[in-house]
Amino acid sequence: MEQGFQKYIPFHPVSLPERQWPNKVIEKAPIWCSVDLRDGNQALVNPMNLEEKLLFFKTLVDIGFKEIEVGFPSASETEYEILRALIDRNLIPDDVTIQVLVQARSHLIQKTFEAISGAKNVIIHFYNSTSTLQRKVVFDTDMQGVIDIAIEGAKLIKELTEQEVAKTGANIRFEYSPESFSGTEMDNAVLICDKVLEVLETTPERKVILNLPNTVEGMMPNQHADQIEYFCRHLKGRACAIISLHPHNDRGTATAATEMGLLAGADRVEGTLFGNGERTGNADIMNLAMNMYTQGVDPGLDFSEINHIKEIYEQCTEMKVHERHPYAGKLVFTAFSGSHQDAINKGVDYMKKHHSKYWQVPYLPIDPADLGRQYEPIIRINSQSGKGGAAFIMQQIFGYQIPKEMHPEFGRLVKAACDKAGREILPKEILEIFENEYLKINKPYNLKTYKIHEENDADNETVVHFEGDLRFENEDHMITGLGNGPVDAFFNALKSVGITDYKFVSYSEHAISEGANSKAVSYIQLEGPKGAISFGVGFDSNISLASIKGIICAINRAQK
Ligand code: KIV
Ligand code: ZN
Repeated sequence: MEQGFQKYIPFHPVSLPERQWPNKVIEKAPIWCSVDLRDGNQALVNPMNLEEKLLFFKTLVDIGFKEIEVGFPSASETEYEILRALIDRNLIPDDVTIQVLVQARSHLIQKTFEAISGAKNVIIHFYNSTSTLQRKVVFDTDMQGVIDIAIEGAKLIKELTEQEVAKTGANIRFEYSPESFSGTEMDNAVLICDKVLEVLETTPERKVILNLPNTVEGMMPNQHADQIEYFCRHLKGRACAIISLHPHNDRGTATAATEMGLLAGADRVEGTLFGNGERTGNADIMNLAMNMYTQGVDPGLDFSEINHIKEIYEQCTEMKVHERHPYAGKLVFTAFSGSHQDAINKGVDYMKKHHSKYWQVPYLPIDPADLGRQYEPIIRINSQSGKGGAAFIMQQIFGYQIPKEMHPEFGRLVKAACDKAGREILPKEILEIFENEYLKINKPYNLKTYKIHEENDADNETVVHFEGDLRFENEDHMITGLGNGPVDAFFNALKSVGITDYKFVSYSEHAISEGANSKAVSYIQLEGPKGAISFGVGFDSNISLASIKGIICAINRAQK
């Protein structure tokens, strides 16, 4: 019995044993052309209305697109009106070229020329389908029939262009797409494109765009790259053509197909933001551009406010950007795994310490700030998180540089809270845990007042006097002590009331800003009875008192 998969015809790759593209790298950005307002728009449940298209157009201009396919004006009245609004309201910057799509059919071409009248820079993009399958099942014609359609279309476009240029002086360029290029025999694709170049009398100074659509992605990206390299090598008019890619994403590999297509010789890419478009969509230009960016190549497009772009996109298209969408997804700068969190933490520290001019953070291929995104959501803490994660949040968001030795203890406290809540813990909840555990504890010992002063002894050495009012066991106790510094004097004062079990192990402190002021935070590690370790934190505008509070905190916690 035949099985389901046996009804499919495998793709037949073009033969290109001497292929060059695998040895190349992308060193510069291609010419980008957004087809959001046409290919993207035509694939929406609710196509954009005039206001939405104008807003989207402005956003594309702000991102930096210089070529924008604005629609298919001969296909519907709405498309026609939108194009007119762009031209009549003077909304197209002088350095931006609008592109209009039209089938290679005479009445549609005529209508397209009416629609563009008055525009300064225009690409007339005409197409007809050339694929083996469409010739057989849709048009019932041979290759010559398809070539004739393209030639007739090209002749009419050339003639109408000459008239329009004579009338308005517009800068009109041409683009031809053998639709379903990737499903066409390569020699036929080359043949029809060379014929079109001939009719349009193209020159190296006035190149024509040959757009090679992967209309339905039906092969692996390397096989598509072979097609592009084959085409470029065999096209007689290569010097007179700008080779453009137009990948769709049916196999989910449009980004790879585009990148390999560029290696194979293409100069230009048509695609959409976030890969919107027919079926599985077009190539995602944001993804491609940011991939180049992370390889040190300037993409020439600005995605530094990705959240804003995403908002406009979602508003105009009524589509959603997936949470795991490269660069733009809500979760792409979130690390749940403890080892990832730890490595990110170390990467950030490493960069600071070495004043690194390069981005060197494991698990984050790009600095979120380059997309206008925050460090804040990088690490979310749940019960799977490692010991360093909570400390990282405390440092990045709240400025507390909790010492390494304290990470396991604080990590355990946060993990217990996650387990209890049965969900992820937010940064502000982590801060609350920290404050409740370390800053608000004042039992059994509570230092109510204190005085510190310094004197020189007979040998001219500085002696610090500590005097304070320590409340415990429901009574206030006056404590006094001398030492070579405030901490030493305080320890000695504690001894005066019998608190003798604690040894100082380590200490660190730093300043932390609170509004316009800065305060001191101290982290104290003590060794208590039977060698038990206890940590304490002190927070005060006076650095000596911050240390003393840290000691009391550590003792209080040891006695909990
Ligand atoms: O995908 C495609 O083939 C197209 C052409 C009309 C360029 O969108
Ligand atoms: Zn398309």
